[in-house]
Amino acid sequence: MRLKRKDLLGIEDLSCEELDTIISTAESFKEVSTRDIKKVPTLRGKTVINLFYEPSTRTRTSFEIAAKRMSADAVNISVSTSSVVKGETLKDTAKNLEAMNPDCIVIRHSCAGAPHLLARYLRCSVVNAGDGAHEHPTQALLDMLTVKEKKGTLKGLRIVIVGDIAHSRVARSNIIGFSRFGNEVRVVGPPTMIPPGIEELGCRVFTGMDDAIRDADVIMMLRIQLERQKAPLFPSVREYSRLYGLDTDRLSMAPRDVVILHPGPINRGVEISPEVADGPYSLILDQVTNGVAVRMAVFYLLLGGAREG
Ligand code: CP
Repeated sequence: MRLKRKDLLGIEDLSCEELDTIISTAESFKEVSTRDIKKVPTLRGKTVINLFYEPSTRTRTSFEIAAKRMSADAVNISVSTSSVVKGETLKDTAKNLEAMNPDCIVIRHSCAGAPHLLARYLRCSVVNAGDGAHEHPTQALLDMLTVKEKKGTLKGLRIVIVGDIAHSRVARSNIIGFSRFGNEVRVVGPPTMIPPGIEELGCRVFTGMDDAIRDADVIMMLRIQLERQKAPLFPSVREYSRLYGLDTDRLSMAPRDVVILHPGPINRGVEISPEVADGPYSLILDQVTNGVAVRMAVFYLLLGGAREG
């Protein structure tokens, strides 16, 4: 089983069949992380470079762990201590890294389209670990795996995504992915954080959170991305929290079998209360666990043996 592609750049490029293949491969790899010796020899001799131009805890660590659990060599480039600070361009940096013959470069960048640019210039595989406000495909894949595990299906669910939709690559990838499987995806947040035309990705816009979550199967809370906002988009954190935060009172309006997702990092007491983040409906740490399995699957399907097509 292989993907008929060199790179993984976005959910929008992937068919339902490819999404299914990655998710079911990840399911089969989960067991490796529960062993005493958490390693399979599948990608021995392969080299993966993590090139992160933006901060990351979960994504970078899980790509590194995933590579190592598959017996690939993983190298992390810290941009702040690299020659990027001397003015080296993205293309030059990537071409020089490729001259060392890696099999895959995983890139996170603040500019939408940066991974696509590299994919055109490089012979090795490129994986998008988040590009600006555009896409975060492996996050959506791990979210889909987490929902499938808990709900037993990836079809016919009501998925509510709450918060800073405008700046969220996680929201964009999830809207595309979940709607492709026939789920009803709803977005809700301050009007200033809902981009015009977002419905074209396959979601419905709600203005009130209580209406949106009343019959929800999944609620996905998002962090306010202050680092991407050019001007304040809401009057105060207190007001944002009152209208769009998830605490136990608001959660009581949702069905008893609802599950809560958040890609992290969370701002406790802003978009989600500590009681909800750490409570019985929360799948936040399951998402992190599944991130390793999804990234193992992505490496396996891109690098493991001869590529078809
Ligand atoms: N979910 C996510 O992308 O988290 P990090 O920024 O810590 O990688």
